[in-house]
Amino acid sequence: MSQTPPSNQFDKKAQAWSARFSEPVSDLVKRYTASVDFDKRLARFDIEGSLAHADMLQSVGILSDADLAAIRDGMQKILTEIDAGRFEWLLDLEDVHLNIEKRLVELVGDAGKRLHTGRSRNDQVATDIRLWLRAEIDVISDLLRQLRHALATLAREHAETILPGFTHLQVAQPVTFGHHLLAYVEMFARDAERLADCRRRVNRLPLGAAALAGTSYPIDRERVAATLGFDGVCRNSLDAVSDRDFAIEFCATGALVMTHISRLSEELILWMSPRVGFIDLADRFCTGSSIMPQKKNPDVPELARGKTGRVNGHLIALLTLMKGQPLAYNKDNQEDKEGLFDTADTVRDTVRIFVDLIGGIQVKAEAMRAAALQGFATATDLADYLVKRGLPFRDAHEVVAHAVRDCSDRGCDLADLTVEELRAFHPSIGEDVHSVLTLEGSVAARKHIGGTAPERVRAEAERVLGETQG
Ligand code: ARG
Repeated sequence: MSQTPPSNQFDKKAQAWSARFSEPVSDLVKRYTASVDFDKRLARFDIEGSLAHADMLQSVGILSDADLAAIRDGMQKILTEIDAGRFEWLLDLEDVHLNIEKRLVELVGDAGKRLHTGRSRNDQVATDIRLWLRAEIDVISDLLRQLRHALATLAREHAETILPGFTHLQVAQPVTFGHHLLAYVEMFARDAERLADCRRRVNRLPLGAAALAGTSYPIDRERVAATLGFDGVCRNSLDAVSDRDFAIEFCATGALVMTHISRLSEELILWMSPRVGFIDLADRFCTGSSIMPQKKNPDVPELARGKTGRVNGHLIALLTLMKGQPLAYNKDNQEDKEGLFDTADTVRDTVRIFVDLIGGIQVKAEAMRAAALQGFATATDLADYLVKRGLPFRDAHEVVAHAVRDCSDRGCDLADLTVEELRAFHPSIGEDVHSVLTLEGSVAARKHIGGTAPERVRAEAERVLGETQG
């Protein structure tokens, strides 16, 4: 029995491709294959891409002036409907592209039907994602700038505040709190560099690749690229529609941003613990306990640390999605969006919150100082002092180890010993020894580039503040 294919003509919900099929897909398959629920957030960029495409089609004589005017008019109406929440998104129409196209045809008729000339959803979606991602990268880059500015502001304020520096979470050597904060500035500066680098590869135009092989129309890809602000066009149609490496790069960069935030979070949590008490976080970033009235929990840093896991997950998901895909476009690629969207959302919100959170840190300098006075933080300084008086470093190390052991037994610090007591460990120890045993002497001596000395920290903080001005 021969079946009549369903007519598209008057069915608002009929798919653009359904004329070829003899039976409709089941509701489950429809839901399984549709992406409109999540890709509708690309709408603004889909329209921007379509308008650039239409402008080009008109410029090469494929669309009439009247068609172009109608398309522009229709798209403007659609944008207004979307912004007002009046646009009716239909699952039956699968994705953002077909929903918008269908509405355009409803509004402007045949001109709308001509828009898809020389184009496929494959190069269309690749273009949309790149436009969307470029905008996200610009927002996140600016937030990273603000975060560096907030950290450098606090660093300048605490160029002289001393806390113990740790290795193995054991007191190692005194450092200034400003220096500690500037370490994170370096991490976020590299993240910003990575984002800028990733943006260069995101910012290429796939349109013109059509489904996979290019198109026989005399298109002008350079014109579309210029209209959309792309730096150039993708040079191979098969690659243009299929690879999502630019999205993977973004996710990798996002994972590193979150990794750095997570390290910082871990420290904030530790510093805020009453056991340590180095800082307090503003109440607006903490919550209490429903059972323990005394609690003030650092929820925001804990959640940020936790969210690093999901961002890492999205990176692995995208890598796995791409791996093993033959050229060119495969529907697998539709799965690129949710993880990518969530990565951008998570990174953006986290960095934004941290800009404010850093500004609200209350530093407890006395607690930091007290902690630095425990654990023989200046032992290395004493060894260096002996080296400057002619001892080989290994011998100096041994002399100081004896002194530390002695102090440890007596329950005092190296700086508490008199010059005579210290000289008992080595005769070259002189009257000036205490200048290197104090915390201030220790940090002040490290004034080279990258060092912890207050004067160096102030200069670095000023440099960063200058570079990150809004
Ligand atoms: N929704 C699709 C995606 O996200 C658009 C491209 C569909 N192309 C196709 N040949 N089915 O990738």
